[in-house]
Amino acid sequence: MKHIHFLFFLLLLISCKNDTAFYKHELTESAYQFFEIDNERDTILRSKEGVTIHIKKNTFSDEGAIKLRFAAILSKADMIEHQMYTVDQDGGMLESGGMFQLQNMSSPDEPFNKAVRLEIPAEYVNNKMTKYTLANPAEGLAWTNSGQDIDILHTKDMNRGKKLFNKHCTMCHDADLRKDLTGPALGNVHLHRSEEWLVQFTKNSGKLIAEGDLVANCLWFEWNKSVMPSYPSLSNQEIINIYKYIANESQKQKISRNEVSFTQTCDTTAIKTAESSGDRSQQHSHYSNPIYEIILPDAQWTNIDYLLKFETEITPIKLEMQTPYKDLTIMLSFQERNTVIPFETSKETPGTYQLLNFRNYEQITFPIGEKVNIIAHAGEPIKYFKVIEYTPKKQDNVIKLSLDIGSQKQFIQAIERL
Ligand code: HEC
Repeated sequence: MKHIHFLFFLLLLISCKNDTAFYKHELTESAYQFFEIDNERDTILRSKEGVTIHIKKNTFSDEGAIKLRFAAILSKADMIEHQMYTVDQDGGMLESGGMFQLQNMSSPDEPFNKAVRLEIPAEYVNNKMTKYTLANPAEGLAWTNSGQDIDILHTKDMNRGKKLFNKHCTMCHDADLRKDLTGPALGNVHLHRSEEWLVQFTKNSGKLIAEGDLVANCLWFEWNKSVMPSYPSLSNQEIINIYKYIANESQKQKISRNEVSFTQTCDTTAIKTAESSGDRSQQHSHYSNPIYEIILPDAQWTNIDYLLKFETEITPIKLEMQTPYKDLTIMLSFQERNTVIPFETSKETPGTYQLLNFRNYEQITFPIGEKVNIIAHAGEPIKYFKVIEYTPKKQDNVIKLSLDIGSQKQFIQAIERL
């Protein structure tokens, strides 16, 4: 009888080990930044990623000097290197605006006496972002929605601009900023025209044309001599707000700098930059990036995310490894999203890996047509790794894979390009 108990215990141990091994989330030392603060004073820290950390005095129970460690996982490369995934507790895919953890090194599990505020620079505003936490790390790296919205600073102007744009401009200009309609597409127009010019042109483009402005005349000529309406009633600030919105939306829609071809037809900034190189940075300063603000009540991981929902169902992506590797990790990252999801070993067919799907559906939903990267790696300090580009199909998502040999440095370089 005793033997049977022992056997059960052993089995339990083995199964636990298998489950948790995959979700390893303890980061290597290099992922952390270390600070020492005086607990008797308010402190503002700035991480190397540009995250501002506001700590009130007596946030921690210890007296005097406190050693802190802080981790910010912002990019896909960081996620892949440190095996942090963007999957929620139901198996849903998340897109992350960043994952954060602040710990008092002498008592890492103790809740803070006062909440710590983080300000996180973002490339663009995504209003759908919510706060996720890692409620029970021992159960795996699955994020739980805290139901709390994230405050986004510096967005009032942008939201006002959006309203004005929709009211006055989208009848002629594509709301998605990419297509030419009655008027030209405006994606990234702020990178090709000065702010002052945009204000004057929007107020009264006819006046600029009459005054002989080169760009206005070029546009007028290229656009079959049609003149767009004047907006004398809009204030300078209101017009700037419209372009703040356009700037943010261009980033959000991932429109690359020169994608909208019409903006370049009459681009004179190339000449301007040659004349004075300082001009350009000033010209863009009004389109400063938004900042996400989150509150950390304790030292657990916090993630800014939104839940991705796709329509199309595909058969799960399966990988067949040509050779077995020790400590193999395989993950998938979207090329156009800050999303990293792990593959898990198939229980039926050893050597086969399947895109993680907690819900255990036969089919998974996926954005058909979007490109992903599949990254497999094993071993240290000599690395075996492979990064492949893949476009998931509705069926037959079976990939045969073998790894190449390289150094840790080469591996990091490869994932930083993703
Ligand atoms: C009735 C249609 C119409 C409306 C409404 C309209 N536009 Fe235009 N827009 C045009 C046309 C046509 C052009 C092409 C050039 C021209 O007319 O001089 C243009 C050109 C532009 C350009 C220059 C693009 C470039 O490449 O430099 C900007 C900027 C612009 N519009 C902004 C706006 C904004 C902002 C609004 C709303 C406040 C707006 N437009 C409303 C028709 C329109």
